[in-house]
Amino acid sequence: MKIPFVDLKANYLSIKDEIDTAISSVISSSAFVKGKELEQFEKNWAEMCGAGFCVGTSNGTASLELILRSLGVGAGDEVICPSHTFIATAEAIVNCGAKPVFADCHESSALIDANEVRKAITERTKAVIIVDLYGQPADHDAVVEAVGNKNITVIQDAAQSHLAEYKKKTVGSYAKVTSFSFYPGKNLGAYGDAGAAVTNDEELYKKIKMLSDHGRITKYEHLIAGTNARMDNLQASVLNVKMKHLADWNDKRRKIVRKYKNALEDRVLFIDEETYAKPVYHLCVIRTPYRKDLIKFLEEHEVSTGIHYPIPLHLQPAFKELGYNSGDLPRSEKISEEILSIPVFPEMTDEQTDFVIAQIKEYFR
Ligand SMILES: Cc1ncc(COP(=O)(O)O)c(C=O)c1O
Repeated sequence: MKIPFVDLKANYLSIKDEIDTAISSVISSSAFVKGKELEQFEKNWAEMCGAGFCVGTSNGTASLELILRSLGVGAGDEVICPSHTFIATAEAIVNCGAKPVFADCHESSALIDANEVRKAITERTKAVIIVDLYGQPADHDAVVEAVGNKNITVIQDAAQSHLAEYKKKTVGSYAKVTSFSFYPGKNLGAYGDAGAAVTNDEELYKKIKMLSDHGRITKYEHLIAGTNARMDNLQASVLNVKMKHLADWNDKRRKIVRKYKNALEDRVLFIDEETYAKPVYHLCVIRTPYRKDLIKFLEEHEVSTGIHYPIPLHLQPAFKELGYNSGDLPRSEKISEEILSIPVFPEMTDEQTDFVIAQIKEYFR
């Protein structure tokens, strides 16, 4: 049995009529940029997250950049972020002219460690980006406490944690500002690139919105030199449909991971679930010192896997000039050698889940 890592086609087929209607309605109106669908998306997503305001953007990397720029982060500033994350988190910092400073993670949860954030703070620190990796919220309050009364903004990168909960609060409702990606494979995925920024701060919302749309105040009046980082209406229409199913899809992911855990916990280590968190399992990540062999075995049995992420950012060639060395962030380095993401997607059948379990059991036998 062939097990894909995600199955976007199955997802489309499960909501085909709704999607086709939404897309053809945009095409018949031929209003592709700005307007009804985007406005609906922004209203709906803010509401779902429990936030006051939402700006639909062209992708998650752009959202992070817009957020940093709207906070005035630029040349000479430092922004702390985890090393164990997708490169976009740090790219956004570099693209604003600022310097990323990498903090180590907790080994058990793979999430940024507030104590490491505390150690990394300097007079130049303007912001910290926490990342809710794999669908589990990072400990926002611990980072806020680490930052203390310094003028440092805590930004949440929730690209992987749509509708996850932190201390019973929905992601997007409690941080100063939160960034989302709706890359197709995300829990809420567009049919192309898309992202969003949400906040309860109206002034910040207005700045992000303006920056995302050429710094406009009217069609040809530009208050600041912004950029074009808007979400288009085709993507907004897709997200408006898919959003209604998101809670159900997240529950399905949770059920699959529960099944994996019940069957495999005595054989492999799973990423720890924090007591404060209700994760949404964008990824199901296990740890094993036999990763290379296990991948090969699973490949032979047609089970797809992934590694998120095999090289910590402080050791990436792209950030060589920052001067980090091997051994600087030992926990990020250790887990990057052991983690393995196994298939989890809402359309995954019991038969498919059982097959993955059987293969992993067979390998360890
Ligand atoms: C943690 C994290 N941050 C940021 C991004 C960037 O999002 P996008 O691909 O929409 O630019 C991603 C996307 O994979 C991500 O996983």
